[in-house]
Amino acid sequence: MIICHQASELRQLLNTYRREGKSIALVPTMGNLHRGHVRLVEKAVELADVVVSSIFVNPMQFGRHEDLDKYPRTPDADIGKLTAAGCTVLFAPSVKEMYPLGLDEHTVVSVPAISERHCGASRPGHFDGVATVVSKLFNLVQPDHAVFGLKDYQQFKVIRKMNADLCFGIQLTGVATERDENGLALSSRNGYLSAEQKHTALTIIQTLRSTAAQIKNGTRDFAALEQAAKSVFESRQMRPDYFSICRADTLAPAGADDKQLVILAAGYVGTTRLIDNIEVNL
Ligand code: PAJ
Repeated sequence: MIICHQASELRQLLNTYRREGKSIALVPTMGNLHRGHVRLVEKAVELADVVVSSIFVNPMQFGRHEDLDKYPRTPDADIGKLTAAGCTVLFAPSVKEMYPLGLDEHTVVSVPAISERHCGASRPGHFDGVATVVSKLFNLVQPDHAVFGLKDYQQFKVIRKMNADLCFGIQLTGVATERDENGLALSSRNGYLSAEQKHTALTIIQTLRSTAAQIKNGTRDFAALEQAAKSVFESRQMRPDYFSICRADTLAPAGADDKQLVILAAGYVGTTRLIDNIEVNL
């Protein structure tokens, strides 16, 4: 695997692949890679001749009081996992490389409407940071394909809209959420949890699954289901952030006649914020 730290080296290298007629797939990450990230790289290997992964803990998508400084950074282990998964090129830029003049003077890509609810409401500016860094990566790599996880469901929809609105023309693939043996969605932030907190965190997927089952069984009072789910969170020492039964396309609140739904949930175990979701196709 070739490692590039500078955008200019990356561009030069990718130009040679392109001249050879090779297709390129991009897998953006923030590192501290787990089996979920590895699945994305494996998918990318199926899709294209050359796989570029990026590792960049993007300061623009973290709020002022969030975990940017303590976000886990494990470059050596990550390089081993990417190599084993068949990644061709790792792009691991510094903050200075990506934001030479700092964040304040940088152009911001903002995707309206779909960014505003759910995580966008709880984390103002978060999706602007995601859309900005992903559009920079799209322009640097100019991939044929880009692969993202459906664990970050709203993120996937935001990037999909950005890809369409700004005419990137990249084929996007969403990969199903990888979970541990108990169902907990793998996340770099699970590393912040004690064994007991990991057990508490199972509340999210258990509540998502039981709510999905109730909808499949015909319950249509979505507001009552959302309220009941939040009460379950509270009864199990989780602070709910949101629990929303949505239309899968727009992520707006679902109506009783909608058929393609997704339930999005976020909550805190101690100070750690976790998210998860489940699709419900009726
Ligand atoms: P990060 O949290 O590192 O995730 C990188 C990619 O891995 C995202 O597409 C995410 O959805 C996917 N992923 C994370 N956990 C997963 C799991 N359990 N199963 C399947 N896929 C999973 O998401 C980001 O980084 C950043 O916002 C980024 C897109 C890189 C922009 O900075």
